[in-house]
Amino acid sequence: MTEADVAAVIIMAAGAGTRMKSVRPKVLHEVAGRSMIAHAIKAANALAPDRLAVVIGHEREQVQQHLAEFAPHVLIAVQEQPLGTGDAVRAGLSVLPDISGEIVVTSGDVPLLKGETLRRLVASHRQTGSAVTVLTAVVPDATGYGRIIRAGDQVAAIIEHRDADQAQLEINEINSGIYVFDADLLRAGVDALTTANAQGELYLPGVVAFARQRGLGVNGYVLTDYLQAEGVNDRIELAARNAELNRRILRHWMAEGVTVVDPKTTWIHADVDLAADVTLKPGTSLEGATSVASGAVIGPDTTLIDVEVAENAEVVRTHAVLSVIGAGASVGPFAYLRPGTQVGERAKIGAFVEAKNAQLGAGAKVPHLTYCGDAIIGEGSNIGAGTIFANYDGVTKSVTRVGAHSFVGSDSVLVAPLTIADGAYVAAGSVVTRDVGAGELAVARGQQRNVAGWVDRRRSGTAAQEAAKEAARTRDNTDGENQ
Ligand code: UD1
Ligand code: CA
Repeated sequence: MTEADVAAVIIMAAGAGTRMKSVRPKVLHEVAGRSMIAHAIKAANALAPDRLAVVIGHEREQVQQHLAEFAPHVLIAVQEQPLGTGDAVRAGLSVLPDISGEIVVTSGDVPLLKGETLRRLVASHRQTGSAVTVLTAVVPDATGYGRIIRAGDQVAAIIEHRDADQAQLEINEINSGIYVFDADLLRAGVDALTTANAQGELYLPGVVAFARQRGLGVNGYVLTDYLQAEGVNDRIELAARNAELNRRILRHWMAEGVTVVDPKTTWIHADVDLAADVTLKPGTSLEGATSVASGAVIGPDTTLIDVEVAENAEVVRTHAVLSVIGAGASVGPFAYLRPGTQVGERAKIGAFVEAKNAQLGAGAKVPHLTYCGDAIIGEGSNIGAGTIFANYDGVTKSVTRVGAHSFVGSDSVLVAPLTIADGAYVAAGSVVTRDVGAGELAVARGQQRNVAGWVDRRRSGTAAQEAAKEAARTRDNTDGENQ
C-alpha cells in the first residue's frame, strides 16, 4: 500500500482530560514510553500530509513545549474553550485556510492507532468516492461511544451515548472519532453545527448528518482490530492501553527473533530497537531509545534507559541510564550505571558497582563493590574490590585516569584529579593523592607494626590470651619434634 498523501491532518488534543485527575495534560501521558500526542503524530505522518495541525487548549503551554521538542513542523491551533469536537476542528481549520482535498481528523488520545490503519481508511474513502469516511469498530462494550446508525452501506448518523435511545444503545458499532472529510464539506458542516444535544457541545459527528442532507456519501470503514481504536479517558484505561501496546511490541520482537522468557514481566518501549537472537529474561524493562545487539542477554530484573548494548554482552540485575555496553562485556549482578558510562569490549562491571561518567577500555575489570565516578580506565586494567574513585572535593568534580594494564589494589581511594600511568600498581588500602608513573608501585598507607606480648599485657584472662598461649605451646612442641 503506497497511496495516501492527504492535504491535511487535524489532531484534536484540547480536551481537559478531567478524568485523568492530573496536572499534566492528558495527551502528555505516556504509553510505551512515548506521549500519546507523539503516537498520534507518528500515525498521522504515515499519511504524508501536506499540513499537520494539532488543536490544543487545556494546559497548552506544556503541550506546545513538548511539541516544539520533537515535532516542530506541526501547526498549532488553539481552542480557547473546550466547546466540543466540532469546535476543536473549527479551530484546526483556522490554521488551514484555503485547503482543499482530504482532511483526516483524529484524536490525541488513541495511542494504539497505526499509521497503516489511517492509510487504509483513506484508501477506502477514495475507493467509495465519499464525502466523509468514518473509522468504525464493532466492540464488545460500546458504553460511552457514539453509535453508528447505518442506512444500507451508508452511515446515516452518529448518535452519542448520552443522546441515544434504548434501541440505539444496543448498537455495538461505534465511532472511533477518526474520519476523512472533504475539506469544503468539513468547513461548511462545522459552521452549521449547533449545541442542541445532551452536553450542549458542538459535536463533530453532526457533520455526518449535514453531508447526508446534501445527498453526499458517508462511508463507514470498519476496523476489525478494534483495540486500535480504544482511547484513554482515565488512568485505568491508560494502564490497559499500555499493557496492550506492550503485548503488541513483545509479539513484534518475538516474531523478529528475540527470546522473551516471560512476556508477563517484560516491558519494551515503542522506540527500543532489538536484534535477532537477543534474550530477555524475566523482569526486564527496556526504555527510551535503548538498543540491544544480537546475542546479548539482558536480565533478570534489569532496567535499561537509553542504553546501547553491543553483541553478546551480558547484563544481569542492573539499572543503567544513558550508557554504552560494549561487545562481549559483562555487567552485574547488582550494578548501577549512571549517565556517561561506557563499558568497553569484553570489559566487566561486577557486583555492587556504581559507575558514572566512566570509560572502561577493552577487557578492563571493575569486579566488586566500587564507586567509579568520572574515571577513564585503560584496556586490561583491574580495579580491586572496594575501590573508591573520589571524584568530588565538595566543590568540584575531577577525573581520575588509570592507564592500560594497571592494577589498583583492593580498598584504595583514588583522589581526583589523578593520573595513574600505564603498567602501574597501587598497593591495597592506599589513599592515592599524587600521580603514579608508568611501572611504579604506589604505597600510601600506614606502616604495619606488630607489638609482641600485647595480648598478655592488655587482655589477660580472655579467650584470646588462652588461644595465644595454646598457639605458643603447639609451636614450642613442634619446634621440639623438629629438633
Ligand atoms: C468522541 C465522539 C464519539 C466517539 C468517541 C471515540 C464526539 C461528540 N463524540 O467522544 O462519537 O465514539 O470520541 O473515542 O465527537 N477535544 C478537543 N476539544 C473539545 C473536545 C474534545 O480538542 O472541545 C478532543 C479531546 O482532547 C480528544 C478528542 O477531542 O482528543 C475526543 O474528545 P472526547 O471528549 O474524548 O470525546 P468522546 O466523548 O470520547
Ligand atoms: Ca474520548
